[in-house]
Parts: sequence; C-alpha cells; structure tokens
Amino acid sequence: MKVDGRHTRTIWLEPDGWSVGAIDQTRLPHRFETIRLTTVADAARAIATMQVRGAPLIGATAAYGMALAVNADASDAGLKRAYAELHAARPTAINLKWALDEMVRAVRPLPPPERAKAAYARAGEICEEDVAINRALGRHGHALIAAAAARKGSEPVNILTHCNAGWLAAVDVGTALAPIYTAHDAGVAVHVWVDETRPRNQGAALTAWELKHHGVPHTVIADNTGGHLMQHGLVDMAIVGTDRVAANGDVCNKIGTYLKALAARDNGVPFYVGLPSPTIDFAVADGLAEIPIEQRSGDEVAAISGRTADGRIETVRLVPDGSPVANYAFDVTPARLITGLITERGVIAAERPALAAAFPERVAAAVQAARDAAE
Ligand code: MRU
Repeated sequence: MKVDGRHTRTIWLEPDGWSVGAIDQTRLPHRFETIRLTTVADAARAIATMQVRGAPLIGATAAYGMALAVNADASDAGLKRAYAELHAARPTAINLKWALDEMVRAVRPLPPPERAKAAYARAGEICEEDVAINRALGRHGHALIAAAAARKGSEPVNILTHCNAGWLAAVDVGTALAPIYTAHDAGVAVHVWVDETRPRNQGAALTAWELKHHGVPHTVIADNTGGHLMQHGLVDMAIVGTDRVAANGDVCNKIGTYLKALAARDNGVPFYVGLPSPTIDFAVADGLAEIPIEQRSGDEVAAISGRTADGRIETVRLVPDGSPVANYAFDVTPARLITGLITERGVIAAERPALAAAFPERVAAAVQAARDAAE
C-alpha cells in the first residue's frame, strides 16, 4: 500500500541483503519510523513489544527472525534456540508457529552451509504468499460488499471493523480490510466504522491511519458504540480479522470482538471474518475451550499514550493508583455467531466440514504433526 504516495510494506529485506527493515507500529499514527532487525533477539523483541503486530506480520517477522538466526548460527542447536525464542514472543497468533514450522521444514534437511540462503528464500516466499493470499481474500470479500452495495443503491455500504486487520497487520493489503480496499478501489462506495480498540487503540491509531492514507471514508468510534449503530440500521456488515481459527470455526480475535458478534446477531447484521489460511489451527478442535488467551500488562489499561497539543508523545494514567487492572488481549467468538469466513479460497461457513474441505492439505499436515509429536 502507499504511504504519502510511496509503495510501502510492513517488513522488507534491506538492500544489504541480510538485515530486515520494518515499520515501527508503536510510533504510529503520529510518527512514521522504521526499525532495522539484525538478530533473532531483535525480531523476538519487535514481536513482543508490538513494534510489529497482527497475526500475518508476526508470522513474517518470525520467518525473517529465523533467517537472521541461521545467518549467525546454522547449527541444529542454533535453529532450536531461535525457534524457542521466537515462539515465546507472543502466544495467540498461530501464524507465528506456522511460519516457524515452515522455516524449519525448509532449512533443517540441508547441510548447515546451505541453510542461510534457503532461510532467506523461504522467508521472502512467506511474505509474497501472504500478499497473494490477502489479494485473493480481498476479491472474495469484495463480492459480498458489492452485493450489499447493489441492495443499497447510491448509499455507501457501512462496514464495522475491530482492531487493525489492515495492511499494517500483514505484509501488505491486509485481511479484514482487504475486501474494503478492493471494493473501494473498484469504485464501490464504502464507509468504515473503526472501533478504537482499547487498550492499545489499534483501531484509532492504525486502522484510521491506513484508511486515511488510502482515502477510504471512515469514522472512529468508541468501542461501546457498535451495538447502538447496529440497532439503528447504520451497519450493513461487520468484517474483523483473526489471530487463530480453530478447526470448529471458533474465531479468536482482539478482545471485544465477541461482543460485536453478539450485537450483530441480535440485530441481523452479517458478521464476517477475514481469514488467511495460515491462521487456521487444525490442531485445536474447540477454540473456546483450547485457545490460550494472552494476558498483557495492566499498564496498557491503566494508562494511555497520545500526542499533546505541542507535539510531544506523552503517557498519562487513567486509573487510581492501587486499583487492580486486568488486561485480556483476545477473546473467542463462537462459530455459531459468524456469518462466513472470507478466505483466499472463497467465503465458507464457520464449520468444521467446510474448513476441512477448503483446506485439506492443512488438515493432513496437522494429522502428520500430531503423529510426529506422538513418536
Ligand atoms: O494484538 P495485535 O495487534 O497483534 O492483534 C491483532 C488483532 O487482533 C487483529 O484484530 C487481527 O484481526 C488479527 S491480525 C489480522
């Protein structure tokens, strides 16, 4: 996507051919800054501190983190250490493990002197695959938006989204926002309701920033507003992203997604999830019962950062000193509340048979992994 007219991705290989550049998302929307990753520890830190975030981008960063690790130490032991360090960086987005497993599969069969080249090649492919997946997902989701537009006549299609599942959450294009960009670029009138997404405000800071840069009409709303808008016919559909989808179609996404799905069901608003296939975890049979939910520092709830009138970035405390704070970063929306999963292979039902039929090779890989683990 473009930033000030210049084509930009969230992560890239630097011209030196080995270090890795990325947008520092903790500085947006007020500053556009980039970081340079030179070690596996840099990559793990960037994921843990959310300089890079969003499930597909976490996967891409982990892939390059493995390439940086192999470049420094191509031994089996080095590979194992890097896997463990990166895997521990954040727990929810399954794209992280998916990308690490892909890297190990590409590298481990090779003799150590050949590993670095193969690692960089596979990391680059993972990035290109992400972009291609998101473009396909965008085309399938565009059809849904175009159908809603045909029903609405000249009025824009109002789409509610939660958190940031745009190009900043991926390598490029985005997941939940891919259909919106595709529709907008094709001339369909869209308007996006952007949940601010406390506590880290990915909606207010990141989704609003990228929609504004792309010229997509949007309005930022407080997280509690969606239900009211739906009751008054002001939301035609919701499209959210996801960090992990279980085999039964349960969707884990940023905290607050479940409440939006409940409000959508109560008001007859279609609730879609943009889902690139590396986000499916066929090893998890029941999302609600089995997906571990990341709990982050209470400081993210107790404090808020922003730009002061004179341009400084400041953090201020909202909560009385001493009040306990809990910070659950994700929740699970049961499959029964989901109208459809927008994937790169079409819009499918959030049900085990539909997911398995659409991605049989992923089911087979999960079965094989379970067998390997048991041996
Ligand atoms: O904590 P984050 O910012 O990494 O979480 C990202 C999300 O939860 C997004 O909403 C999302 O849909 C997954 S990334 C496409």
